[in-house]
Amino acid sequence: MVKICCIGAGYVGGPTMAVIALKCPNIQVAVVDISTARINAWNSDTLPIYEPGLDEVVKKCRGKNLSFSTDVEKHVAESDIVFVSVNTPTKTQGLGAGKAADLTYWESAARMIADVAKSNKIVVEKSTVPVKTAEAIEKILTHNSKGINFSILSNPEFLAEGTAISDLLNPDRVLIGGRETPEGKKAIEALRDVYAHWVPVDRILCTNLWSAELSKLAANAFLAQRISSVNAMSALCEATGADVSQVAHAVGKDTRIGPKFLNASVGFGGSCFQKDILNLVYICECNGLPEVATYWKQVIKVNDYQKTRFVNQIVSSMFNTVSGKKIAVLGFAFKKDTGDTRETPAIDVCKGLIGDKAKLSIYDPQVNQDQIQRDLSMKKFDWDHPVHLQPMSPTSVKDVSVVWDAYTATKDAHGICILTEWDEFKNLDYQKIFNDMQKPAFVFDGRNVVDAEKLRKIGFIVYSIGKPLDDWLKDMPAVA
Ligand code: NAD
Ligand code: UGA
Repeated sequence: MVKICCIGAGYVGGPTMAVIALKCPNIQVAVVDISTARINAWNSDTLPIYEPGLDEVVKKCRGKNLSFSTDVEKHVAESDIVFVSVNTPTKTQGLGAGKAADLTYWESAARMIADVAKSNKIVVEKSTVPVKTAEAIEKILTHNSKGINFSILSNPEFLAEGTAISDLLNPDRVLIGGRETPEGKKAIEALRDVYAHWVPVDRILCTNLWSAELSKLAANAFLAQRISSVNAMSALCEATGADVSQVAHAVGKDTRIGPKFLNASVGFGGSCFQKDILNLVYICECNGLPEVATYWKQVIKVNDYQKTRFVNQIVSSMFNTVSGKKIAVLGFAFKKDTGDTRETPAIDVCKGLIGDKAKLSIYDPQVNQDQIQRDLSMKKFDWDHPVHLQPMSPTSVKDVSVVWDAYTATKDAHGICILTEWDEFKNLDYQKIFNDMQKPAFVFDGRNVVDAEKLRKIGFIVYSIGKPLDDWLKDMPAVA
């Protein structure tokens, strides 16, 4: 029986391995991690991540051909194929700080594989890594190999959170990069056979190692660039009276452009877009391509601009001060259907409002108080480390309360900011909310989820990203 081990039981390792176990009953899959808390959660009824459909898949396979363990070395030693799906954060210190990928966790995993291996292994890069990482990993493995053969493959993951299970069950493509040697081709075949249990072979793309590594960074850069493009347009729409939804619809109707990923927002978040683009920028700079680096850097700059613009709009609309005012924040996760808050735009928006002395009352259906307090007190980039290695926040952030329903959050508030597009925010009783708020009552919709006309009829002053501005807002222009 083929044995697979995955190092890293996170958002990628957990769901990916659960789906492999589901679709390949003849393969034994072990997911291992250095975090005991994470592994305990994977073995409990409350999984460590919220992902629609994940519970069912895990329940079907756990205890059969899927296991979760902290016994990293044992499972690695026993496996034929080892996936590595560990954190690859942005470096915070030293060479390339603020841009380059920190490969500490990857390197330590590779050294451990070399130490414990007693048989030949295929080592699969599942984490997103800089192009040419496989060369470095190969060096670590072969220098410590004791005669064991290691074949390195790049198999980047394209799942999106919130839709991870359906993305994994029905991927647009699976990408496998390997060496163009007989051993490399054999390794590619072996991994292709795993995916071929459920993915049509014409969707399994095989390339050289560097193309696979770079394609992952490129795909995320292209996706993020679309969002920054439409967000840049949203600013122009507000200035001109155009409506960004209508513009995006018209643009997306061109089959060469397509309709997806053109929703204007308060900014993109998530663990990867910013990190991967910064990494791409660094690689361009290292390869003597400053113009290319500047081009991609602009995608991040526009994203930061969008968040700042949103905060400025709130403050300027409310008579240029939010000091002491209660602002309800609806949604903290970086998108709906996930409890993930990594690089969520809510962090920057909340920090901006706190900077102007607002009192925040935050509600998100999937994010708890502890997480929100950690996010608001942690330094940039510190979140992307195994949980038990993250610096603890010494004190909780004052002037922030976290509540468990939208009505409590909005009671007596001066304004509401919608920062995540949770479906339940569309259908709240906004008349009741209006009655219980201070007047004038404002709604700042960073995701275009509410029916702005309906809310205006109730009496709200409404700001919707990229939409024609209310007269009130026109009279209170945001100047940074
Ligand atoms: P994560 O933080 O959820 O999980 C990583 C896990 O690796 C953690 O549980 C950590 O404890 C563990 N770990 C770190 N070093 C280890 C070691 N030496 N031995 C054993 N376990 C170790 O991260 P994630 O979101 O799953 O991302 C993992 C990688 O996949 C990153 O490179 C990321 O860029 C990439 N990726 C993420 C997504 C996503 O949607 N989250 C999608 C595609 C690719
Ligand atoms: C993204 C990619 O979509 C995945 O293919 C990739 O595997 C993953 O990053 C990764 O490498 O980590 P994810 O971050 O989970 O997935 O979620 P997305 O759906 O891409 O959303 C990212 C951010 O962009 C969210 O904050 C979302 O609200 C925002 N977004 C998305 C918009 O503002 N507008 C859109 O039209 C689409």
